[in-house]
Amino acid sequence: MASITIRNLDDATKEKLRLRAAAHGRSMEEEVRLLLAALDVHAGPSITQISAPSSGLATGPLAGRHILLIIGGGIAAYKCLDLIRRLRERGAHVRPVLTKAAEEFVTPLSVGALAADKVFSDLFSREDEHDVGHIRLSREADLIAVAPATADLMAKMAGGLANDLASAVLLATDKPVLIAPAMNPRMWNHPATRRNRTTLANDGIRFVGPNSGEMAESGEAGAGRMAEPLEIVAAIETLLDITPKPLAGKTIVMTSGPTHEPIDPVRYIANRSSGKQGHAIAAALARLGATVHLVSGPVTIADPEGVFVTHVESARDMRDAVERLLPADAAVMVAAVADWRTANEAGEKIKKQPGAAAPALQMVENPDILAGVGHSKQRPRLVVGFAAETQDLLANARKKLDKKGADWIVANDVSHATGVMGGDRNAVRIVTRSGVEEWPDMSKEEVAERLAARIAAALQTIEV
Ligand code: C5P
Repeated sequence: MASITIRNLDDATKEKLRLRAAAHGRSMEEEVRLLLAALDVHAGPSITQISAPSSGLATGPLAGRHILLIIGGGIAAYKCLDLIRRLRERGAHVRPVLTKAAEEFVTPLSVGALAADKVFSDLFSREDEHDVGHIRLSREADLIAVAPATADLMAKMAGGLANDLASAVLLATDKPVLIAPAMNPRMWNHPATRRNRTTLANDGIRFVGPNSGEMAESGEAGAGRMAEPLEIVAAIETLLDITPKPLAGKTIVMTSGPTHEPIDPVRYIANRSSGKQGHAIAAALARLGATVHLVSGPVTIADPEGVFVTHVESARDMRDAVERLLPADAAVMVAAVADWRTANEAGEKIKKQPGAAAPALQMVENPDILAGVGHSKQRPRLVVGFAAETQDLLANARKKLDKKGADWIVANDVSHATGVMGGDRNAVRIVTRSGVEEWPDMSKEEVAERLAARIAAALQTIEV
């Protein structure tokens, strides 16, 4: 086959191509060939030797894979619309099955339109049984995903019931089954659900989530939120063992979360960082095959999957841990490290003295971990920092490139009104020496996925 000269493309197109190729774990030439092949498919009837799939893209990590998506009846069912879109943009064919209860939350019309397939819901439909049948539905799938998996559906699965289409399909299958539970935290922790969880895990059913956080019911919080669509996609890719690994063999050091700077044995200075963004980036990098060493400040979220985590409290502990983890191919410093600590940490709890003035805290500057790494003799090839600002975002971010010896600064506005600090969404700008890239508002998982792909692309080129 003739060779393709990527060099002659303009920079912006080259960059887009590089990101796309990295995300799929292919070379840029391979990516172009597959894109051209996909164009040919849509070029018209004159090209007959390539047949286009009726749904899903011809390319993408899930190209040609058939996912049977069972949507259970819970408030989280709305997230399945996005899940279907995500799966299809990766090339998967999605065949939806709705339980009767699910139809109370999403309509078969919207699900069918997004999946570009018929929606199945009835076990005793003469037409469906004639057309496909519940046994064929499960046989034709490469994987069955259940999202949201309600307490009721999990109980049915654990008990081997088959009194509706969803449960009959699940009992009839020998394919991998992934469930994304979603329910009230009290239901999730009920002894009956706990028993069912153990039974299902012993039966080889795989779980993604649930996550912890606020529930749809006001005032309710805890474990029970359905995993985000991108987390479900990642779990599906892992289960089908097809995740591209462009970062295989690369080591990345990261920081995430806040730091706690002690005042005395019981008090400390902290900030509002939740660690969500940094942890999501660590997980996304690990999914792309990197060996990720994450140094995490005190957070209440779970350690990211597939990542080596060192837990620390203060900025100085974080710095020491990071230094021990060098050398590395890249460093991504997301932690909201406290700029100052108290000059003299009290050995005993500071007591109130009647009539005495309130104690004055004397502060000293903390080590700048990012700058230390950026100017280190063991400097990784790619150094990425974050800039959380409430004013003059871009000007401050640009200054940080040199001051900290970073290649990229991911700048985000953390003014209270943006809800970024501790929230689930982020709108970032990537500031490099060649310019500023503005990304739209998206979930922190999505930011993580895009950033990981960009890092993979950068590490594949000679100069960063
Ligand atoms: O100077 P500023 O705190 O705005 O810089 C933010 C960036 O520097 C982040 O990447 C953060 O993780 C890193 N940083 C650090 N050590 C510090 C302060 C910030 O690594 N002491």
